[in-house]
Order: sequence, then structure tokens, then C-alpha cells
Amino acid sequence: VADIRKLYNQLGVFTYDPGYGTTASCESKITYIDGDEGVLLYRGYPIEQLAEKSDFIEVCYLLMYGELPTSAQLDKFRVGVTRHTMVHEQIRRFFDGFRRDAHPMAIMCGVVGALAAFYHDNLDINDEHQREIAAFRLIAKVPTIAAMAYKYALGQPFVYPRNDLSYAANFLHMLNAVPAESYNVSPVLERAMDRILVLHADHEQNASTSTVRLAGSTGANPFACIAAGIAALWGPAHGGANEAVLKMLGEIGTPENIPDFIEKVKDKNSNVKLMGFGHRVYKNFDPRAKIMKETCHEVLGELGIKDEPLLDMAMEMERIALTDDYFVSRKLYPNVDFYSGIILKAMGIPTSMFTVIFAVARTVGWVSQWKEMIEDPSQRIGRPRQIYTGAASRDYRPVDAR
Ligand code: ACO
Repeated sequence: VADIRKLYNQLGVFTYDPGYGTTASCESKITYIDGDEGVLLYRGYPIEQLAEKSDFIEVCYLLMYGELPTSAQLDKFRVGVTRHTMVHEQIRRFFDGFRRDAHPMAIMCGVVGALAAFYHDNLDINDEHQREIAAFRLIAKVPTIAAMAYKYALGQPFVYPRNDLSYAANFLHMLNAVPAESYNVSPVLERAMDRILVLHADHEQNASTSTVRLAGSTGANPFACIAAGIAALWGPAHGGANEAVLKMLGEIGTPENIPDFIEKVKDKNSNVKLMGFGHRVYKNFDPRAKIMKETCHEVLGELGIKDEPLLDMAMEMERIALTDDYFVSRKLYPNVDFYSGIILKAMGIPTSMFTVIFAVARTVGWVSQWKEMIEDPSQRIGRPRQIYTGAASRDYRPVDAR
């Protein structure tokens, strides 16, 4: 690779690949996707097996270290993460600076980036121990900050983490407890949240992960890099899609309106997309979408929700789209976000928190990819080229002569 790069540099040759659809930016051992077959593996393990048999904290270990832990390794890792779940009391005061109606992703970008101001002992990226502690801090504190952002918008007191609970149950506890000790986490909802976290934990070089790697390639500290990833995730074409799915279903209103809506999507002048459908890499069913659909039924069953119009509409839309030539010929299938919004809504979580929950899950993926990049001896600063299409060289004219 180095020789080819040298030759291309000498010849002044480079590829033009907007959106990087055919450009590999790195080597990675973490996540494998076969988009044609609908396969997703974390460190070689199929996502279906991990979603069924593992849990989020074990998946965090797997993503970070490459192997499933022994029971002793898992215990040590769990303690390593949970001892960092609290945030510094001064961080509470940051929240007062935000408007009450601020979007929680705006708060996440700011507060996670600001962790660098608190952990000076973690900023030397060349020190393996510091990298490890930074990873623990991020995985542990991001859910605490996310729950604080939610409580702040509601005007309710912040709920402190409970380290006797699982990662998913503690997160639900911090989101829901009013007063702090009064919320009992249902095992079905705990499992559903755990699955959402497992399914979103990593997805190779997507936009936010590539952003983390690009920021990290400059030597920026891990807290700043993860804040950059959160910013990239916020967009509706990426992590904002499940929020957009619910908005879309709400606007369609009733199943009778679906055919008209589908026609609008197919009209290229309308600029309307079927949110929760399509993927840059999957040209088959997103394997995560199938698990999400099952989990959606489990959650609605647990909560005793018999008729959920949104779910009925989503299933009808899926049925129509999977038989319509527009979607079939373009290989557009439901992605992970198509059903996750319905689950979160049923759990009482407002749409503004959906992307935040994605960020909580993806933090371990970002951290693992960042660590892999820093530890890769061939890593260089990321610096894409461009095709310049602007003006040719010209002389400056003073303002009164223009
Ligand atoms: N609805 C309607 N048409 C679509 C959709 C959609 N959701 N997605 C793609 N298409 C069409 C495109 O218009 C294009 O049509 P054309 O060939 O006639 O021009 C064709 O399918 C190919 O699509 P691309 O735009 O090339 O696909 P790309 O890989 O650039 O985009 C993306 C992928 C951004 C996910 C897109 O499918 C999309 O916007 N989907 C809706 C948003 C969404 O659900 N995002 C979540 C992604 S998963 C995640 O981030 C967790």
C-alpha cells in the first residue's frame, strides 16, 4: 500500500470518490458487514447470537479487546466500567448554562467534549493505560450525561447511577426514576434496552465512526473525538433516522394514506425519502432490523399495548415497500431504525432522546475504533484530496473598484 501511495503521489494521481463509497480508509479487525447477504459480525460473532446470548457489557469487552471474556475478565471489566459512572459535581453546573428546551444532542456534544477539561490525566494518547481509562470513563459516563440531559429538559432532579444494576437497567433507572429510588426496571424492558445497545454498538466505518477516526488521526484527545462522533451522528441521514421514522409515520397518519405517500417517495422531484429504509452497505435485510422487529413485539406485549397504530403502519409500509419495484430494484430494505423508534416510544422515551440512546450504544464502537487506530503503526493523519473547481488565479481588486 505504501509503495502504491508513493507512486500515485509521484504521478499526482488520486481517486475521486464523493461519499467514499469505494474507498477503504483503514484496516480493521472489529466489525464485518456483508451487505449483500445481510450479515453483521462483531469480532467474528454473528449479531443474532450476541443479541440473544450476550449482554451489552460483554459486547463492550468483545469490541474493545477482540475476544469474549472469561468470567473473571468480565467481572473485572464490569467493575472497571461501573466505578466511573458518576460525573464530577461541577459537571452538573454545566447544565444550567443550557436552555431548558435545548435538544439533548446539543447538550451531549458540549458536555462529552468538556470531559477533556476534567480528565487531564487522560489526555496522553500514547500511554496505553491512559487510553484504557479514557475508554472506561467514556463508556461509563455517556449514559449518565444522557440521562442528565433528559432530566434537565423535564425539570426533574438528576438521578445518580446505581452500580448494582446492569448497564441497561441502570440507564433506564437514571431516565425514569422519580423520585430516585422508586423505579423498578422490568426485565423485559431491561432486555429490550440491552438489545438496542448491542445492536447499535458498532457498524464499521459509518459517518460518525469515520469522523471519530479522522479527528483522532490528528492526535486529538478521546473525549474531543467522541464529541465529534456525536455531532456527526446527529444528522437525520445517520443517527437521527429513527426520530425521522416516527415523524414520518405521524405525518402519514393512517394506513390508507400509505400508498399515496409511497407514490410521493417514488417521485424524484418530491425529495421525500422513506425514512428507516435503505443503507449504504446493506443491499439486503439489515440483520439488526429483524431483531428490532421481534423486540418491538415483546415490548408492546410486556406493556400490554395491543393496538399500536404506529406499529401497524410500519408493518403495512414494510409489506408494500418489499413488493414495490422501486424499492426492490434499488434493494431498499428496512434498516435498524425502522422499528427502534416504536420500541423507544412505547417505553415512554421522547423522540428527542432517540439519537442520544444511539450515541450511548455507539460510544463503545467509537472508542474501540479510536483505540485500534491509535495502536496501528501505519496510521497517518487523515487528509482527503479534492478536485478544485473554483476560480483560476486572479488579482485582488480594492472594494471601491469592484
Ligand atoms: N427512500 C426512497 N428512496 C431511497 C431511499 C429511501 N429511504 N434510500 C435510497 N433511495 C434511492 C435513492 O434516491 C437512489 O435512487 P436513484 O438510483 O433513482 O437515484 C437509490 O435509492 C440509491 O440510494 P443512494 O442515495 O445512492 O444511497 P446512499 O447509500 O447514498 O444512502 C441512506 C443511504 C443515506 C441510508 C439512504 O438510504 C437514506 O437516506 N435512507 C433514509 C434515512 C435512513 O433511514 N437512515 C438510516 C441509515 S442506518 C443508520 O445510520 C443507523
